[in-house]
Amino acid sequence: MLEISARLEEALNRAFIKVFPKEDQSSKTSSILTGSNLVPASKPEFGDFQINCALSLAKELKQSPREIAQKIADQLQKDNDFVQICNPPLIAGPGFINLSINAKTLISEIHFRLNDKRLGVPLKKFSSEKIEKGKNNNRVIIDFSSPNIAKEMHVGHLRSTIIGDSLARVLEFCGYEVLRLNHVGDWGTQFGMLITHLKEVVPEALHTKDVVEISDLVNFYRQAKKRFDEDPIFQNKSRNEVVNLQAGGQESLIAWQLLCKQSRNEFQKIYDRLDIKLIERGESFYNKFLVDVINDLKNKNLLINDQGAQCIFLDGVVGKDGKPQPIIIQKSDGGFNYATTDLAAIKYRLATPPYGDGAYRLIYVTDAGQASHFSGVFQIAKLANWIPADCQIEHVPFGLVQGEDGKKLKTRSGETIRLVDLLDEAIQRAREDLKDRLSTESRSESESFIDNVSTTVGIAAIKYADLSQNRVSNYQFSFDKMLSLQGNTAPYLLYALVRIAGISRKGGDLKVSSQNIQFEEPQEWALIRKLLQLDCIIAEVEKELLPNRLCGYLFELSQIFNRFYDQVPILKASEPSRASRLALCSITANTLKLGMSLLGIPTLERM
Ligand code: ARG
Repeated sequence: MLEISARLEEALNRAFIKVFPKEDQSSKTSSILTGSNLVPASKPEFGDFQINCALSLAKELKQSPREIAQKIADQLQKDNDFVQICNPPLIAGPGFINLSINAKTLISEIHFRLNDKRLGVPLKKFSSEKIEKGKNNNRVIIDFSSPNIAKEMHVGHLRSTIIGDSLARVLEFCGYEVLRLNHVGDWGTQFGMLITHLKEVVPEALHTKDVVEISDLVNFYRQAKKRFDEDPIFQNKSRNEVVNLQAGGQESLIAWQLLCKQSRNEFQKIYDRLDIKLIERGESFYNKFLVDVINDLKNKNLLINDQGAQCIFLDGVVGKDGKPQPIIIQKSDGGFNYATTDLAAIKYRLATPPYGDGAYRLIYVTDAGQASHFSGVFQIAKLANWIPADCQIEHVPFGLVQGEDGKKLKTRSGETIRLVDLLDEAIQRAREDLKDRLSTESRSESESFIDNVSTTVGIAAIKYADLSQNRVSNYQFSFDKMLSLQGNTAPYLLYALVRIAGISRKGGDLKVSSQNIQFEEPQEWALIRKLLQLDCIIAEVEKELLPNRLCGYLFELSQIFNRFYDQVPILKASEPSRASRLALCSITANTLKLGMSLLGIPTLERM
């Protein structure tokens, strides 16, 4: 529908020029006319698009809105391209113009999608000349997942991982070159504490592989943190240890590498199960650029010395006491902060290769709690002139994961939930649901079938439950809801696909290329119209970075398909309806598969 709506927009502008000649326009009318006046219909019974500007124009021109609407409609009817695409416009209510795409156009769009792998979604075109000059307006960086070494990955990181991956998939599909960066927390004071503590309690863990498990490591970290907070001598030792590490001390480096490796292996297990690809480039990578950041900010007179620390005060950034709060770029002991690393990262990511990544859009997927951190860091980068005019930098925040009681998600005994346990439980529950269903349906299936279906459904349910919420709001984690076959859930969508696969097993040839496609039922037209919206939805996600839009679309598509499937005969229909309906089944299946793959969710033929 993207191309069609663009053509309609052009036709509308041509009509405007005829009905409201430029020389007669006031500034007010011209601003109405240049706005975006073609909007999707608010209800399916109004057709496909609506033009609402007659009402505001009427006020300006002191004429009746219906008369104005009529003039626009008459003019549209004289436009060649318009009449190719649309049925005659209808004036409704006080002066709305309703447009519906004509059958011929809809059918030709359906024909096109039957043979188009991209299902009508255009591939972005980039200027090769610009790309050669290192101005990669096709390159996007998504910074996501990004857990911290020696700490366990928590549900917040799971959200970041799932949302970030889906955004990466959508942008990749649009044609961008996406750098999926895992900005792991692998640097800083936590290592000083941990190494100091381990030296005393399990020194062999600092030079021998696999002496401690990740869960032990997490406990050691907790103990170390406690000692750090309570014991000034331990604090001092830890600080020295950090200095040692940052200065490249051999022993410390080896210990650090071991600890990172251990965590990395653990993280990788989760990524493998979720089918997530990431490139690890942790905070430590930017260590060598930190001094440069300080010098650059100093040269631009942006730093203020506040009790020995190098700080920046930004407009509107105040502490809880309402006083201006500085962002500390370099601590009084010479150490650097989380923010300093992020500044170095911005510089590097935007710099032209070989000095950096040469990206044009930077996307950061973290919990909403980091919003002020990013807003501060982005402001500083702008003040320092590091963000070229055509580059975009965005924080993509998400809300908290809560239990069904609305409180922080915890185990029954009140501990933080481990991600592996969460995935295992989803799969286990999916398996129990499946076994119940098999026994009510008196079906017997192999163990490998049961394994495959429950793993797929379990993982799909977790991912979809997360993605289908508007990410900005908090989301309530409920196994029962996410695994239900009813409602906006992964199993519901998977089931629509299974139905289509069933049609094909029963002899319906989905590889239709029928020249003679015909439709008459309203359920068919409703399905066609929904199918043709895919390109608009993808364009929206690309821009607004909200995967829930895609989920909502796939859910509606499944509902409309199910209505069609329940109410209109397919295999039993006579030709040409049979082939035409099979064509719709085929495009629906491809659309669902593509949509799910962009969400990072695997699909099934049977379940
Ligand atoms: N490691 C951080 C955390 O666990 C997230 C890092 C996000 N990315 C960034 N460039 N700051 O909260």
